[in-house]
Formats: sequence, structure tokens, C-alpha cells
Amino acid sequence: MAAYKLVLIRHGESNWNQENRFCGWFDADLSETGEKEARRGGEALRDANFEFDICYTSVLKRAIRTLWLVLDGIDQMWVPVHRTWRLNERHYGGLTGLNKAETAAKHGEAQVKIWRRSFDIPLLSWYDEINVHTADRRYADLTEDQLPSCESLKDTIARALPFWNDEIAPQIKQGKRVLIAAHGNSLRGIVKHLEGMSDEAIMELNLPTGIPILYELDKNLKPVKPMQFLGDEETVRKAMEAVAAQGKAKK
Ligand code: 3PG
Repeated sequence: MAAYKLVLIRHGESNWNQENRFCGWFDADLSETGEKEARRGGEALRDANFEFDICYTSVLKRAIRTLWLVLDGIDQMWVPVHRTWRLNERHYGGLTGLNKAETAAKHGEAQVKIWRRSFDIPLLSWYDEINVHTADRRYADLTEDQLPSCESLKDTIARALPFWNDEIAPQIKQGKRVLIAAHGNSLRGIVKHLEGMSDEAIMELNLPTGIPILYELDKNLKPVKPMQFLGDEETVRKAMEAVAAQGKAKK
């Protein structure tokens, strides 16, 4: 029996998703398609009469804007929102800015899948070419240890999970209805934790952009059934396949 409901939403398509570039901590905005996806996500939540008490997002505008559009769609823009770097996308280090298909053509699709989806294989660290973050005042409070120059999914989970445990989980247990608007990999981390997924199984999970994901949780915050997408099956399947295909070399 479900004690709580939790809704997750990956931001809508960003300009860099559209250009098929590794984005990570680069602050790309939503594309026009991404805005539409976010609005559609809001409509799905509105049609199912969802209400929220508290929302969480990253400090990256593609997730923040998605949340704005969703909250606008459900006419709940007044609901408190917490933004944290701990829900940011995985930091893509030296891959940031590169085109995923070109990278696959150069290094092979298998290597790109390892870089994108392996649990703990380290990436090249970020070399100071793209102005991603170090001088950015939104990260001024982070210690040197906290500020990444690249992350594996394991590293992403290691910084997202304390926020889940200390901030989000207690709110859910108090009965607050929570919406999290975040990123492909920070959400994969939360999903891995909730479902107790293995390091291998998480490699195969691609989350679609802009489609709300509903979890029904028991009192220990364990899912009582698989994640449910609030969107039609065909759209969800295509959206997940499209994310997986981003790492294929163009024929
Ligand atoms: C990015 O940062 O490029 C994407 O948002 C997530 O990328 P991935 O699907 O290649 O992990």
C-alpha cells in the first residue's frame, strides 16, 4: 500500500540536447521543443489533479525553467522551491561541449556508452576551455572538495544523496507532496537509490525529457510499484530511445 507519492521530471530538451552536445554543468536553456515538453508535462499533471507542497530543482536554468512551466501549467507557482547544486546534472568534465555523435564516430559507440552510462568509470577532467563554473558565484560556497571537475554517476549520486536523505526524504515522510525537476543523471541517481538498482541495471536506464514520472512509495520510501510515466506509452518509448541514440555515430 502506497503511503506517499513523489513526482520526478527531467527538464525538457535543452539547446545543447538539440545540438547533441554533452552539457553537464553548462547552463544551457530549454529549446522551443523543450518548453513545449515542459508545458505538456504540466498539462499531464494538471489533468491528473496533482498538487504539490514543496519543489526541488538544480541551479541550472533548463531544470528551473521546466519547473516554472510545470508550476504555471498546474497553477501552483506559489509553491516553495529549493534550488541546489546537488541536483545538478552530472559534471561531464572534458566531454562538456562535445557533440555526442561525433565523439562516438571518433572514439566508438561502445566507449561513448561507457562514458555516458557506466556507474564509476572516471571521465577526463574539465580543462578550462568552456566557462562552465569555477568562477561562477552560484558555486561560491562549495569547498574545493565539493566542486567537481568531472564526475561519474557514482560521484553524482554521492553529492545528490545527502540532499535526498537530509532534505527531501524527511519532507516526504512528513506527508509533503514533493516534485523534483532535475536532470537525466541526477534523477538516474535518485531512481537507482529508490529502486536499489544494481550498477549494471542503471546503465540501461535512459530517462525521457519533460515527462513526469510518478513513484508510489511505502512508509520506508521504497517503491510499491514500478515508476509510472504520465504520458502515452508510445511517446515515452520514443523519448527514451532518442536519449539512448544520442551516443550513436551518425551513419
Ligand atoms: C547532458 O548533460 O549532456 C545531458 O543532459 C545528459 O547527458 P547523457 O544522456 O549523455 O548522460
